[in-house]
Amino acid sequence: MQVSEAKVIDGGAAVEVSLGAERHRFHALWLRDNARDEKTRSPGNGQRLITILDIPAETKIAEARALGGTLSLRFEPEGRSIDFDGSWLARHTYDRQQVRAPGWTGKGIERWDGRLLNSVPSEGWADVTHDRRALGRWLAAVRRYGFAVMTGTPTEPGTLCKVAELFGYVRETNYGRWFEVRAEVNPNNLAYTNLGLQAHTDNPYRDPVPTLQILACLENSVEGGDSIVVDGFKVVERLKAENPRGFELLSGHAARFAYEGSAGVRLRAKRPMIELGPDGELIAIRFNNRSLAAATDVPYEDMADYYAAYRRFAELIEDPVMEVSFKLKPGELFIVDNTRVLHARKSFSGTGKRWLQGCYADKDGLYSTLAAIEEEGLLQ
Ligand code: FE2
Repeated sequence: MQVSEAKVIDGGAAVEVSLGAERHRFHALWLRDNARDEKTRSPGNGQRLITILDIPAETKIAEARALGGTLSLRFEPEGRSIDFDGSWLARHTYDRQQVRAPGWTGKGIERWDGRLLNSVPSEGWADVTHDRRALGRWLAAVRRYGFAVMTGTPTEPGTLCKVAELFGYVRETNYGRWFEVRAEVNPNNLAYTNLGLQAHTDNPYRDPVPTLQILACLENSVEGGDSIVVDGFKVVERLKAENPRGFELLSGHAARFAYEGSAGVRLRAKRPMIELGPDGELIAIRFNNRSLAAATDVPYEDMADYYAAYRRFAELIEDPVMEVSFKLKPGELFIVDNTRVLHARKSFSGTGKRWLQGCYADKDGLYSTLAAIEEEGLLQ
């Protein structure tokens, strides 16, 4: 993208730039802070070498020119001339009207319901471990759907950690580096029984919550015990459409979550069931009947409606049209974005064996590896 025209405006506080057919304004201070010259940014690692306090508060643009497609500016009182690449400017414009309703999600996120069952994103272990393209496709599916399956993994204990290490790091917790999910007598967590489990996100009592969970199957000869996943972002969309006030209550008030099931462990967190960013972006959901603690941050006047909204949220999560249901076979695993996709388990009979292992990891590593694979041009 080329800069074809540049004009100083607002007495030097900003510049107006023609980028292709569009015109965009940029502030002098924003431009100075985001300069890409080698005195402002390290050429080696790209990190900024100056602080905001190194930039004079009275910074103005004294001169602006479009030179060979580049924006050339002279800043006063520093008296420095700095060039800005047109393509970089085009990727970082901010001079536009932002009208987005609360609960919006970015372009790369696709909300889904039970119909995703016809095209569950899945890759094979042999492929993702030998082919960065296959790994990239799998990670891209997690970013888009918050959910993906992997088949053909070794049925050895701990394999799921190797899956996490394909893109990042295991998040170790008080449950260990990974944990066993099989029926136990007197378990410290209801997950370790043969009871069905309502769809939930894991560990909302942590702050920060583990943002990814992997559940791997080593044995599964029981009757029942199917896994279910539900897109919480799709549920939020439905809740907001039919009950805007309920959406406001669940996103506008903090819930409390706690886990105190083991000696020496007292995990507590205060976060909303539906978390929005400051610009209304849907960031995360937290939903777990087992670890929801007493709500003490909802005003008395709102509590009845808050509970009605919580109930409706739960009903929508349980709506069969929302669920993707499948039975894991030995060597199969699935990963969920634990800030978005809920998982559930149907109850199973006492005969046969059901042995799963679970571990946590985080999205920052997954997105970083995916971005690096994309930069290598492997996903086009
Ligand atoms: Fe769980």
